[in-house]
Amino acid sequence: MKLNILVVAGDGVGPEVTNEAVGILKEVAAHGGHQFNFSERRIGGVAIVQDGTPLPADTVTAALASDAVLLGAVGGNEFNSLPPDKRPEAGLLGIRAALGGFANLRPSFAFKELTVNSPLRPEVIDGTDILFVRELLGGLYFGQPRAWDKEKGEAWNTMRYTKGEVERVARIAFELARKRRKKVTSVDKANVLEVSQLWRATVTEVAAGFPDVELEHQYVDAMAMHLMNRPRTFDVVVTENLFGDILSDEGGIITGSLGMLPSATIGGKVNLFEPVHGSAPDIAGKGLANPLGAILSAAMVLRYSAGLEAEAVVVEKAVRKVLELGFRTPDLARDNPQGFPVLSTSAMGAKVRETVKQLLATSL
Ligand code: NAD
Ligand code: IPM
Ligand code: MN
Repeated sequence: MKLNILVVAGDGVGPEVTNEAVGILKEVAAHGGHQFNFSERRIGGVAIVQDGTPLPADTVTAALASDAVLLGAVGGNEFNSLPPDKRPEAGLLGIRAALGGFANLRPSFAFKELTVNSPLRPEVIDGTDILFVRELLGGLYFGQPRAWDKEKGEAWNTMRYTKGEVERVARIAFELARKRRKKVTSVDKANVLEVSQLWRATVTEVAAGFPDVELEHQYVDAMAMHLMNRPRTFDVVVTENLFGDILSDEGGIITGSLGMLPSATIGGKVNLFEPVHGSAPDIAGKGLANPLGAILSAAMVLRYSAGLEAEAVVVEKAVRKVLELGFRTPDLARDNPQGFPVLSTSAMGAKVRETVKQLLATSL
């Protein structure tokens, strides 16, 4: 198969982890005789410095002409005093809007080998397998009006959803749940917000078309607690943009590190793949970043944009196997009680690549 992949590596650890994800995709292509073509464009802080804007027009054009976009991360402390529309993060929001994907799939799962790395007890997290479906194009991130009136000392943002926006993301959540454990948890703040009341009523309506799928509603504050207390009881969790942003980072606590979490954004013109973590300026440029979230995002490229499900599973198995063998990046081995080998970003990428190669040779 042929796939044109645009790589927008961005800032901080973005290029380091994306490089490893690309290496995995190249391994899969070489083995299967697939033609994966990679091109690169700038986004975020690196684009502000070189092009004067966080999202050059040329990046959008190339993204829309591609079959899949693989993104690293954006952001840097040197841009922290800029207004939101000038910051690196505006580049990320801009490319999301341009590509049109509204359903951001963020799996959160427990790895047996990493339970020691989580502050939660093994009996709480074992077997957890959650799929967050975060609405990605609405809510406070995009709602108008928004402004900071410095003279008045007043600022405002708008949480706004249309019924159609809620329906389309809810439908994706139910369809995904149907292929999993058939449960959807919808998260809102319907005890306070009109937007959440619209959200809840609409999700309930959509649920009527999926009688085989159980629906429960949770308020976001209680959900933040249930997620830590009984994560295993959740299957698909659908929620609006900001709640999904916050809850999905919490998911990193279940897995053992934010650096493990991948994502795929579907439903638009071109799918977008990015690890959940950011540019991690505190560890950037030192080979300390965990590339597994980016590598698992590459597995999602195979699943959602290449139609190569078996190969996606091979990459996921390879990640598991490397962890079983005891290899760790520093974030997974803070105290390193077992004395596991601690690898750099590129050495971890190489281990997974080697394992993918072995598994492809024996299992496909
Ligand atoms: P962050 O996700 O960059 O980092 C949070 C913590 O997790 C840090 O301690 C970091 O070292 C650690 N971490 C993150 N990724 C890791 C990895 N792959 N391996 C090991 N450890 C990892 O969040 P932050 O520090 O709040 O934000 C830093 C910058 O990134 C900000 O400018 C923020 O806006 C941006 N950001 C971008 C994205 C994105 O591009 N998708 C996502 C989140 C944050
Ligand atoms: C994420 C990030 C982004 C978001 C920021 C950097 C715009 O936190 O991808 O989770 O809030 O969506
Ligand atoms: Mn986030």
